[in-house]
Amino acid sequence: MTIQTRSTQPFSDQKPGTSGLRKKVSVFQQANYLENFVQSIFDSIEITPNAVLTLGGDGRYYNKTAIQIIIKMAAANGFARVLVGQNGILSTPAASHIIRKYKSLGGIILSASHNPAGPTEDFGIKYNTPNGGPAPEKITEAIFEKSKTIAQYKIASFSDVDIEKMGVTHLENFTVEVIDPVTDYADLMASMFDFAAIKTLLQSRFQLKFDAMYAVTGPYAKEILVNRLGAPQSCLMNCEVSETFGGGHPDPNLIYAHDLVQALYATKAVDFGAASDGDGDRNMILGNGFFVTPSDSLAVIAANATLIPAYKQGLAGVARSMPTSSAVDRVAKKLNIPCYETPTGWKFFGNLMDAGAVTLCGEESFGTGSNHVREKDGLWAVLCWLNIIAAKKMSVEEIVNNHWLEYGRNAYMRHDYEAVPTEIANGVMAHVKAQFATLPNQKFGKYAVKIVDDFSYTDPIDGSVSTGQGVRILFEGGSRIVFRLSGTGTEGATVRQYFEAIYDIGDPVDTLEEIANLIEIAEEICELKQRSGRTAPTVIT
Ligand code: G1P
Ligand code: ZN
Repeated sequence: MTIQTRSTQPFSDQKPGTSGLRKKVSVFQQANYLENFVQSIFDSIEITPNAVLTLGGDGRYYNKTAIQIIIKMAAANGFARVLVGQNGILSTPAASHIIRKYKSLGGIILSASHNPAGPTEDFGIKYNTPNGGPAPEKITEAIFEKSKTIAQYKIASFSDVDIEKMGVTHLENFTVEVIDPVTDYADLMASMFDFAAIKTLLQSRFQLKFDAMYAVTGPYAKEILVNRLGAPQSCLMNCEVSETFGGGHPDPNLIYAHDLVQALYATKAVDFGAASDGDGDRNMILGNGFFVTPSDSLAVIAANATLIPAYKQGLAGVARSMPTSSAVDRVAKKLNIPCYETPTGWKFFGNLMDAGAVTLCGEESFGTGSNHVREKDGLWAVLCWLNIIAAKKMSVEEIVNNHWLEYGRNAYMRHDYEAVPTEIANGVMAHVKAQFATLPNQKFGKYAVKIVDDFSYTDPIDGSVSTGQGVRILFEGGSRIVFRLSGTGTEGATVRQYFEAIYDIGDPVDTLEEIANLIEIAEEICELKQRSGRTAPTVIT
């Protein structure tokens, strides 16, 4: 095989965010753009003689083109073997599992998660380490530093590898193995859950709908829910993968998963609904006419974990991101296990899981997971719920209502203002921070401010410190408002506002009123609407 060293020029915008590098497809199509980033990854890690690279993506437009380029660059940079999902497909949690199972040096995952796909939409790339999780900041920083000075990259010249057929291609000392993207993951799920009990549930009158939103989880859901668990084919919605994700926005929330919402709210027939995002790591759980907030979902799974075979010995601990509601904290307290509060982004959970400090973790942004992989896992969360329903023989609504009766309730809402001009968004955050000295003890109606800070986190395992992770305004009694700038938006800035109101057991509950009050106070403090001229958030979840 001939290896070419090609000259290149650095690009200034290749800073990987919390979820890797995400840009419009047209940006990735610029000459050497993808190559620069891939070479910067390879230059930031030590490629050992027998190194294996796991490679796959969510199947969006440009996935296959990128895969061929990366295979040739892996060959030129000294990898011994590339494991690639058939047709270039690997959901993010499946990729994490494959990295771990086959002891890869790392993985490259091609995805822009829940962002729309297609020639005029988004593409993304990220590097995961041998533990199967997203690269920690010190590696992403190293990648960025390399990308700023890159002058050349290495690529092998051979014809494109056929990734449509499973099998092994040998190119001198380099091997490409096209693997079934679903089987290993489905086997892992079968080893964790009570498939017999779920099968009995799904073959009773219980009706399930799963919406893959035309993205990567389609084939996974078909294998697990239909082939292995015996659900009827008709339970699958939008499970045909397309390069444009059906022109939709594969983000499982009440707005974008409208087909599923319609199915669960329009009739009494369907008992359980779930959706997953573009790359399969997020999940939304619905009962009939009933929405489970992701924060409550985490708490319910934690409280009932011992009903699931994989967790029957109990949990080592739990973790949630700072903006996630503290519903799971109440469960941890009762179970007498540690609960960690981390910054937003899955990579912070990885260290805790590697050290055995936590078993379950989750974020308010429809991400839930456990130490079986090092990414959040949409279908795993769906199976947790099905396993719990099968064991408790109750509806989703009954399970959640009983949970609130036992632990108290955390009302929760998030407002996103997308594509806000960067200067305005930065101005809003600066304006809030300018009030740090005066806000404590200030009263907004019945709400007295107790503590205000910009969240910072010291990793209990490696001692690394992350500052500036979001402004928290904590009121007497436990209600909170959080302001953060998104790290994943691709246009201007996205400002996120999070609202949480706490009800203890026996408190009178009026979640709508409490949240409405907090929304008003938030505007008074941050002036986002006033400064941006917006009248409403882009997305409410
Ligand atoms: C968003 C979510 C965050 C999640 C990340 C990657 O990040 O809020 O919880 O980990 O996507 O899926 P953000 O845009 O808020 O930085
Ligand atoms: Zn995702």
